[in-house]
Amino acid sequence: MTISYTDADALTLEADVLAYAIGDDLAGLDAVSAAAGADLAAYAKAHGFTGAAGSHLALPAMGSIAASTLLLVGVGKGTASDRASAAGTAGRQARTVGAGSLVLALGDASLGREACERALAGNYTFDQFKPEKDRKPALDQLTFVGDAPASADRIAVRADWQSKARDLVNLPAADLYPATLADWVHKHLGTLDGVTVEVWGPEKLHEEGCVGIIAVGQGSAKTPRLIRASYRPEGATTHVALVGKGVTFDAGGLSLKGTPYMQTMRCDMGGSATVLAAFGAAVELGLPIALDVWVGAAENMLGADAFKLGDILTYKNGVTVEIHNTDAEGRLVLADCLIRACEVEGVDYLVDAATLTGACVVAVGGDFTGLFTDDDDFAAALSAAEQQSGERVWRLPLHAPYKKLLKADWAQIKNVGGRDAGATTAALFLQHFVDGPAWAHLDIAGSSFHDTASTTYAAGATGEPVRLLTYWMESL
Ligand code: BES
Ligand code: MN
Ligand code: ZN
Repeated sequence: MTISYTDADALTLEADVLAYAIGDDLAGLDAVSAAAGADLAAYAKAHGFTGAAGSHLALPAMGSIAASTLLLVGVGKGTASDRASAAGTAGRQARTVGAGSLVLALGDASLGREACERALAGNYTFDQFKPEKDRKPALDQLTFVGDAPASADRIAVRADWQSKARDLVNLPAADLYPATLADWVHKHLGTLDGVTVEVWGPEKLHEEGCVGIIAVGQGSAKTPRLIRASYRPEGATTHVALVGKGVTFDAGGLSLKGTPYMQTMRCDMGGSATVLAAFGAAVELGLPIALDVWVGAAENMLGADAFKLGDILTYKNGVTVEIHNTDAEGRLVLADCLIRACEVEGVDYLVDAATLTGACVVAVGGDFTGLFTDDDDFAAALSAAEQQSGERVWRLPLHAPYKKLLKADWAQIKNVGGRDAGATTAALFLQHFVDGPAWAHLDIAGSSFHDTASTTYAAGATGEPVRLLTYWMESL
């Protein structure tokens, strides 16, 4: 895969697909019509294409321009964010036709970094189980019409780790379960220079009192793991800990999910994929920060040994948790990881990512990650990273008075708060296990996995917010 930058006239560039930005009311189309010697406006109108942001229209160029296919991508009013999104659309359309080469002519020479990353994200698809004849090749040549961005070599690193995260999430639970997730970490992170990996199996988890990971995992024949990777570059002054929910399948446990809600629950290790990939990207970029990543990996099933309603878990930090719903399992697994992450000396920032609540999906949908933190500076830093990655976050209230909704009858807290503010009570639950570092919780239940394809993402894992976390760590 090569990425290049050019200031040549886009209409003279040979490629399988030329993506060409068109604004509202077909702004910019005249130049293409002139070069192609055809009235494209009439064709566009006939096909309902007006240049609206998010829309696109493909035309066979038939020799009228150097590229084989002309892909008009709508950029609306032409904001930088609309133009960057259009690059995602271009990448995705290129994949659906199996284009090997794509030229991005977005009408803004300065967008090379975001455009290329978004195009690569759009180009991703998960087709390893499709029949050969239905598979379309990925791009091998991406050309941006405009300036070469600073540190252009980082683009492919971010994009590759994002794709790795998506592969992990898309894999069926039959292939990806706690033991094989640990294998993945050994293979993809353990082999990086300066990285150490440690995996705790059932015996060690018992010894160490990882009660949440054990409880959630005990109803499955696939035994749970706690996975940790560490990176300690010389001269690091900042220390980041990342924690990810690694529920490789969430059947709900005894509080069994209905079939439609269970269908895509292989996605429930999306938090772990996110933080593992962000860790990999940070190491490969050589960021001068100390890093720990912690993943609680378990399968939430309902075998004979499954944990039960009314069970009480006593965590290592003394907090006791009464189980009121075995389907609120992510927080139980994360709690063990948060406790351990905070025990490490000198951690400045702690971020967890988890497909934690349906309530977050109800609140912000699939285009946003829910962000919870008490730290305004931390929130601002993550929002700045959002500007770079285009992976949107929306801050939701970490409203302390709602802690009362978690009060339990026979233990300190229960594992669910009720219907109201479900994403917030889940975040407040997690807060009981954080002690020391500045902390942010990312609820990625909506953003990390989309049931249906959009203009910019194939159906399934999106890899959000891998690049956002990477940009944030780059900013430290
Ligand atoms: N893994 C789910 C949350 C989820 C829902 C992720 C939709 C992705 C898409 C989580 O473990 C869960 O089941 N949460 C429950 C919590 C409830 C029992 C308090 C939920 O959201 O319904
Ligand atoms: Mn659940
Ligand atoms: Zn879950």
